[in-house]
Amino acid sequence: MNTVREVRRHATVRVPAKVNLELSVGPRRSDGYHGLATVFHAVSIYDIVTVEPARDWGVVVEGPYTDQVPVDESNLALRAARLVAEAGELETPVRITIDKDIPVAGGMAGGSADAAAALVACDALWGLELSRARLDELAAALGSDVNFALTGGTAIGSGRGEELAPVLTSGTYHWVFAVSEGGLSTPAVYDECDRLREGRRVRPPETSDALMAALRSGDPHSLASALSNDLQEAAFSLRPPLRELVEAGIEIGALGGIVSGSGPTVAFLAADAEGALDLAVALAALGTVPEVKRATGPVHGAHVLTHEMTRDH
Ligand code: C5P
Repeated sequence: MNTVREVRRHATVRVPAKVNLELSVGPRRSDGYHGLATVFHAVSIYDIVTVEPARDWGVVVEGPYTDQVPVDESNLALRAARLVAEAGELETPVRITIDKDIPVAGGMAGGSADAAAALVACDALWGLELSRARLDELAAALGSDVNFALTGGTAIGSGRGEELAPVLTSGTYHWVFAVSEGGLSTPAVYDECDRLREGRRVRPPETSDALMAALRSGDPHSLASALSNDLQEAAFSLRPPLRELVEAGIEIGALGGIVSGSGPTVAFLAADAEGALDLAVALAALGTVPEVKRATGPVHGAHVLTHEMTRDH
């Protein structure tokens, strides 16, 4: 008698980039990480990650950032896929294709997004139906921003960023991202933050009531004045032109501007879609920004887009 098993030929997941609306960085902990109080916000710049059975484990990157992403065993999506295989007690390699639109080493959690997508895609490909709690465990083992890429929306992150609580928000915000040439290393930016604060008492991290009120109101002007990032000075210190870029963006019409995470991407907030278009054009006209991207937020976290089913008798 034949047993009928449903096998997916591939699974494709779309996953968003993030910007931190607030990033409050506490002292370095004994494990080397910094305690954070942050507000993550998922925006409509997406990577699309496909997994399919293959003879060997491997990663292929497509899109404009192809040569900037490692495709060896250090690739976070590959490590994610291997973790899901272990969790399902499987030894079936996959080939991962990443169609990349999230800037690499840009402070928008692109690598973490791909890892979150690989978790969801492998779970779907193999029909494992791992619980959300199990996926969260695997995500936290991969990196501090991976849990948020699973979740999306707008959320407070604590711990080292992996503990999440949803935030009540109204409306949609319109963003323009100025992408720099060449990324910044996240550990280097945290190190520089520590160096700049040496000898000063660092307060425990906390999120501000002003930001929560702004997000509840849906007013982009209030949100613009509540944006803050403790890593910004460190990013400016390592990449001085970023300071002028933030100032220039505000001068040409952004309601507010902030380094995204550890940078070097800069996020500018506009009043509405039309304002974002005008701002994107004006930023491009500066001639100093290699790439300008428009996006809206909040958007959903990693989710399966398509899958093909076949019957294996
Ligand atoms: O967790 P993830 O691998 O994304 O972190 C990359 C690096 O960023 C860490 O090795 C650490 O140097 C720094 N980091 C930190 N504190 C955090 C998150 C990241 O110091 N909360």
